[in-house]
Amino acid sequence: MKIKENWHLPDHKQAARRTKNAVEVIDDFQIDNDTVNIGNGKRYFISTYGCQANERDSETLSGILEALGYEAASQADQADLILMNTCGIRENASNNVLGEIGSYKRLYRENPDLIIGVCGCMSQEEGFAHTLLEKYPQVRLLFGTHNLQDLPSMLSRLQNPKERVVEIYSREGEVYENLPSHRASQHKAWVNIMYGCDKFCTYCIVPYTRGKQRSRTMDAILEEIKVLKKLGYKEITLLGQNVNAYGKDLSEDLSFAGLLEEAAKTGIDRIRFMTSHPWDFSSEMIDVIAKYPNIMPYIHLPLQSGDDEILRRMGRRYTSEDYRRLFDEIREKIPNVSISTDIIVGFPNESDEAFEHTMDMVRYAHFDNAFTFIYSPRPGTPAARMEDPISESTKKERLLHLNKVWNDLALEKNKAYEGRIVEVLVDGPSRKDPNHYSGYTDTFKLVNFSGNNLKAGDLVRVRIDQAKTFSMDGTAIEE
Ligand code: 5AD
Ligand code: SF4
Repeated sequence: MKIKENWHLPDHKQAARRTKNAVEVIDDFQIDNDTVNIGNGKRYFISTYGCQANERDSETLSGILEALGYEAASQADQADLILMNTCGIRENASNNVLGEIGSYKRLYRENPDLIIGVCGCMSQEEGFAHTLLEKYPQVRLLFGTHNLQDLPSMLSRLQNPKERVVEIYSREGEVYENLPSHRASQHKAWVNIMYGCDKFCTYCIVPYTRGKQRSRTMDAILEEIKVLKKLGYKEITLLGQNVNAYGKDLSEDLSFAGLLEEAAKTGIDRIRFMTSHPWDFSSEMIDVIAKYPNIMPYIHLPLQSGDDEILRRMGRRYTSEDYRRLFDEIREKIPNVSISTDIIVGFPNESDEAFEHTMDMVRYAHFDNAFTFIYSPRPGTPAARMEDPISESTKKERLLHLNKVWNDLALEKNKAYEGRIVEVLVDGPSRKDPNHYSGYTDTFKLVNFSGNNLKAGDLVRVRIDQAKTFSMDGTAIEE
């Protein structure tokens, strides 16, 4: 494959660099007069993989496309532009994307004007970007996580049918403040509080794909929350790869505890946040969560491993004892708190004993929910260079065992809800039955329940009739 001069391809070495340079805040997004109508009469379809940061980015992409005149299509085969916003965290995520691109072959053959684009974290990976360009000529647009704002000019260049646009930058990144967005929900909203990550856990690709940690200013965040509240939003989730480190890149006096407190004072009904690294989790944060009823008593606290040697090689900077202490403090100070976690099994050279240490912690913590993964080597990360004699079948067995144990413990925990009355934020009626609804409790338990004349965004009281492992059934209380 010939690399064209005007292509910008990712570079891991550059992506890993961190400087002390101040982060630029850019708020001058504009669409040129000759681009402003290029989407008129056309439709777009976006498929989103991965985490909430990607979901939020897709809302921004939708907003930009709609500002260009595009309308949303409900299916890919009705679209003139298909964007895949990809995730690179594990290998199977990339396989799914390649499968999806393959499935569009027929559409592309029938409509050569169809634009198929790939963006997001996987584009930021050297190997993937090269494979894609070489093997998938139908992909005419490739961009990364740092330049959503350039979508109008990239689409404008694609009006020339011979053009292939490749614009991926491996840089620390900026903060963009006034990009348009079309939010997916009218009652729950994602609010970015920071971008990127500087933790460099040895297994993780994110610091390479999303750049340096860049916090938004407190004013910008609070203003966004106030606007959302005015628009009738009931719940916001403050988003960052590691929210506890909020503000550390801006000034000594800014902290996540301070931001949470100010967010609570806006009076919005429900505040959530994710994700929290145990390392920067302060006692002050726990106190603020306990103090304000509109900060939900739910904490996602990735453990990753319960073994000190594995934690050290993962670069997590806490021991299992540190985690246990933090966990105990959270449980003690926040009444009725629920805690979920992420766990990786089969990190390079994880011994049976090391895995047992993880199981000890799982049994101790009695997590409400857990997201469990088999370690997936990510090219370019330090862990991918570690020796790993443990077989795939052992890793699979460990995952099955872990899942069985945490599922049983979570069910036990959920059973304690039976007969209790909880507050649920209604997400909407089920498609099959208009008198059946679903929503989440303050503790982030999914509840399916019967009720009458409710709508998305209502906060209702629900009696829990039956608890299951991943959800609960209940009945709305007529008041
Ligand atoms: N392999 C498996 N799981 C991973 N995660 C991050 N990187 C990897 C990897 N290389 C998991 C971690 C993280 C979650 C979002 O994904 O548990 O917390
Ligand atoms: Fe999100 Fe990480 Fe996946 Fe990127 S690689 S979409 S930051 S989970």
